[in-house]
Amino acid sequence: MKLIIKRLILFATLLFNFLSADDGKLLFYGNCIACHGELGKPSAPHLSEVKGYYMMKYPKKEDFVENLAKWVFKPNEESALLPDAIKKYKLMPYLSIDLDTLTQIATYIYENDDFGVASSLE
Ligand code: HEC
Repeated sequence: MKLIIKRLILFATLLFNFLSADDGKLLFYGNCIACHGELGKPSAPHLSEVKGYYMMKYPKKEDFVENLAKWVFKPNEESALLPDAIKKYKLMPYLSIDLDTLTQIATYIYENDDFGVASSLE
């Protein structure tokens, strides 16, 4: 009986870690990689390219996160940083993701450089 309880606690701990540790990563892979990854035919610029332009203009973390999240919240030509992407791929669609979630995703993008295919989730 005790063993079962121990196992339950272990399982709950693992589940909690899985759910809370890396929200930004899961959200990023769940919402962005379909278009911005490298599987199949590219339908958007790769995220490492997008990040490069944002880093040049907003090297400070707060500015980077704020501006990237705001742009994704309201994709528009006026404040876009990648000069030819809209001409090449058309404007990114509005994704109905709230600004808090986008802030988490933008933080993940700032802190990581691994924007590979979904298998790197493992
Ligand atoms: C349905 C496909 C699609 C999805 C899903 C998508 N994007 Fe995009 N995104 C695009 C395309 C196409 C462009 C290039 C055209 C443009 O800039 O509007 C783009 C451009 C961008 C840019 C560059 C904007 C600029 O300043 O020029 C950023 C930043 C970005 N996406 C972030 C994200 C993030 C973060 C997510 C996930 C929350 C995401 N995208 C999900 C298609 C997508």
